[in-house]
Amino acid sequence: MARGPFASSEGIGRAREPWSALNRALANDGVDAIGDGASALSSFATYEETNVRASYDVVIVGAGLSGCVIAERLSRELGKRALVVERRAHVGGNCYDYVDEHGIRASKYGAHLFHTKHERVWEYVKRFSEWIPFDHRVRGVVASAETGESKLVPIPPTMDTVNALFGTTISSEEEMEAWYKSERVFPADGAEPANGEEAALMRVGPRLYEAIFKHYTKKQWDKYPNELDASVLMRLPCRTSTDDRYFSDPWQALPKRGYTRIFENMIGNDPNVDVRFDADFFELKRLGKLPKYDLLVYTGQIDSYYAALGMPKLEYRSLRFEEEYIEDTEDGLFFQEAMVVNYTGADVPFTRIVEYKHVPNQPEGRHEKPGTLIAREYSSAEGEPYYPVPNPENRALYERYAELAAKEQGVAFVGRLASYKYFNMDEAILNALEVFDNFVETGALEPKRAPSAFGSA
Ligand code: FDA
Repeated sequence: MARGPFASSEGIGRAREPWSALNRALANDGVDAIGDGASALSSFATYEETNVRASYDVVIVGAGLSGCVIAERLSRELGKRALVVERRAHVGGNCYDYVDEHGIRASKYGAHLFHTKHERVWEYVKRFSEWIPFDHRVRGVVASAETGESKLVPIPPTMDTVNALFGTTISSEEEMEAWYKSERVFPADGAEPANGEEAALMRVGPRLYEAIFKHYTKKQWDKYPNELDASVLMRLPCRTSTDDRYFSDPWQALPKRGYTRIFENMIGNDPNVDVRFDADFFELKRLGKLPKYDLLVYTGQIDSYYAALGMPKLEYRSLRFEEEYIEDTEDGLFFQEAMVVNYTGADVPFTRIVEYKHVPNQPEGRHEKPGTLIAREYSSAEGEPYYPVPNPENRALYERYAELAAKEQGVAFVGRLASYKYFNMDEAILNALEVFDNFVETGALEPKRAPSAFGSA
C-alpha cells in the first residue's frame, strides 16, 4: 500500500469528516502579490556600509515574524523608515523555508504548521499569501500495552489510540470519559500536582503516561516529568472523540508557496524598509556602524542585550536536525505514513521524524515523483535557542532581565527571544500587531499584554 501523501477522503492534508469541516480556512484564501512570477526583492541585501541610509525612524533587530510585522505596519500605516538587521543570511527567522535541490519544500528550523483562533491574525496573513487548508495530524510509534509490539496511532491520544493500545472497544465520548475517569490518579488530599508527573497522571493516568508521555518528555527536556514544573504537563491533550487533528484552532492552513514568501510579500519590495543580512546588531554597534535612529525594536535574546552586566544566561532547549534524502523508499514515493511521526519510547534517541513531502504546499507534482527528504529531530542543550526551559529559576532570572528592559528608553523588546516565551507564529504576529497598536495610540512601542497572557507553555 502506498504510504502517502497523508490524506483522507477530504483530500491531501485534510482530516476526515466531521473534523475537517471545523477548519474555516478556504481553498485559495489570501493573495500572493508576487505569485509565480520572479521578483527582484529590492529591500533585501547583505549588509554593507554603502547600502544603508544615514538615519532611520526605527532600527529593528531580527527579520523574523516579530521584526517584519512591525516593519510592515510602521511603513504601510505611518510611512516610517526602518532598517532591519539580521545576523542570519535570510529573512523569516525560524519560519524560513526553501525548495531544496530535489525540488522539495523544507523548513530549515523544523516543521511549521500555521493555526490560529485570532481572526485578526488570519485576516492579516491572508494579505501576504494564498493559503491551503491543512489539518495537521500526527502519528506516533507506540509500544502496545497488550503485546509490546509497536503500533502507529494518533497523537495526541484519541479514542482510536486507546482502543489500539489497550484492546478496548470504546465507541462513544461517554465511554471515553468513563475510561479516563477510571485511569486518572489524583494527588492525595486534593492537593495541587507538585510536578509534571503528578500533573500527567491527573490528566491521563499511568498507562497512557508511560506509553506516550514519560519517555518522550525525557527525550525532549532531558528531564523526567517528575523533575519538571507541573505546568509543563498540565495541558496534556486528552481527546474523548476520534478527532485526530493536532490543533483545534478554527483556522489551520499552509502558505501555498511557503512561509518565506510571506516575508517577501510583506516587506521585500518596500521602499521604506531595508533588510540587511549577515548583520549582527552587537557587532555593528561595537564597530560604530549603526545609522542614527529614534527607536530600537529588539527581537533577539534578552540576556544577550545585557551580556555586559555579566548576569547568568537564560536556559534554552535546542534541536538538532539530521536530514536524509532517500532516493528509493519501500513504496517508491514516501518513507512514512504521515508528515510527522513521533517516537514515544526510550528505544530510539530521536523524538520524531518529519517527512516534508506529505504536505499539500509542495511544488506542483512533487508528491508523484520518487525521492523524499526526512529530518530526524534530536533534542539538545546546545545550539540555536528554541524553547525556554520553564522552571522557577529561569522565570525569576527572566524577571530580573524584564525589570531592566522596562527601564530602557526608546527600546522595545518584542518576540519570543526577547520575551523568553514560546510563541506560536500567530501569537508572535498578534503580539507584534499589538505593539504597533500601542505605538499608534500612545507613541510607545511596547507590548499591550504580558507575554504570559499568550496560551502556550
Ligand atoms: P525568530 O527567532 O523567528 O526571529 C528572531 C530573529 O532575530 C532571528 O532571525 C535571529 O537570527 C535574529 N537575531 C537575534 N539576535 C540578533 C542579533 N544580535 N543581530 C541580528 N539579528 C538577530 N509556530 C507555529 O505556530 N507552528 C509551528 O508548527 C511551529 N513550529 C516550530 C518549530 C520549532 C522547532 C520552533 C523553534 C518554533 C516553532 N514555531 C511554530 C514557533 C515560531 O517559529 C515562532 O513563533 C516565530 O519564529 C517567532 O518569531 P520571532 O520573530 O519572535 O522570532
